[in-house]
Amino acid sequence: MTNNMKSFIAQLPKAELHLHIEGTFEPSLMFEIAKRNGQFIPFDSVEELEKAYKFDCLQDFLDIYYQGAGVLIHEQDFYDLTYSYLEKCAAQNVRHTEIMFDPQTHTDRGVSFKTVINGITRACDDAREKLGVSSLLIMSYLRHLSEEEAFVTLEDSLPFKHKITAIGLDSSEKGNPPSKFKNVFAASVKEGYIPLAHAGEEGDADYVWEAIDVLGIKRIDHGNNSLQDDKLVEEIVKRDLALTVCPLSNTALQVVKDLKDHPLKTMMEKGMNVTINSDDPAYFGGQVNKNYEEIQEALGLSKEDLYNLAKNSFQYSLLDNVLKQQYLKELETFYLANK
Ligand code: HPA
Ligand code: ZN
Repeated sequence: MTNNMKSFIAQLPKAELHLHIEGTFEPSLMFEIAKRNGQFIPFDSVEELEKAYKFDCLQDFLDIYYQGAGVLIHEQDFYDLTYSYLEKCAAQNVRHTEIMFDPQTHTDRGVSFKTVINGITRACDDAREKLGVSSLLIMSYLRHLSEEEAFVTLEDSLPFKHKITAIGLDSSEKGNPPSKFKNVFAASVKEGYIPLAHAGEEGDADYVWEAIDVLGIKRIDHGNNSLQDDKLVEEIVKRDLALTVCPLSNTALQVVKDLKDHPLKTMMEKGMNVTINSDDPAYFGGQVNKNYEEIQEALGLSKEDLYNLAKNSFQYSLLDNVLKQQYLKELETFYLANK
């Protein structure tokens, strides 16, 4: 990669739309928090923990991801986790981020919803003020649990409704189709939450159909397997639904064997509106800029392609129109001066 391209990516104003806060938990911070909470981690060092980050599939990763999140107990832990990610945003010119969090990963261990959300939002407020990074929250239901359990989480969230913009659906996809959550999504939308979901990461195109038709989602997380079905691709383009694509996640979880085979360019050629994201950067080998760099190299993307990807990241964000237009203007000014 040329230095010019690397610095173009580094300076490109961008938004991150697919990011799990529990997936930003760097081993060094994990050890630090585990130590102060008197928690045991079954690894002797940061290096040994990093060595365990080799995955054959999504479930392989999820097992270790939930184990890592288990050391988060106090509001300050959630604050430190979130603020540490937001500092990385500032350093990468990520101007805006939409952060997913998994309440059930914590409430099932006896940590209250309030502890989780207050830690995260306090960090977001501080970052807005001190780092100039804006953020919105996406509360994600764990799809390996029941719809009834998701309803409990929805209830838990209501006192904090003003702090949450959207709902998501994550965790083990195969065997847990979107339709399993039809009622809780309808109830969540009634409360004012915007519906989003992971679909077509490991699940087939029919899961993406369900996500758009049964859950009525406004943006598709991953969506890779949409390409199995031409009619679906046509429909996604027609309905103007963006895909939050995560290149390094896809290779880490063997959704894509090699970045050179990544379908991103095909998606763009078919008129799909795609964005670049890191998903779980502490586990998948890189932050968002590394995702831009590696996919640029693998697919030979042009500066114009990268500009369009960054433009989509603001365009398909859940931001109000005033701030959205402000970021788009900032991006355009940068591009015209550096293309
Ligand atoms: N897929 C599903 N669930 C997840 C992921 C993912 O990539 N990351 C964190 N939870
Ligand atoms: Zn994800």
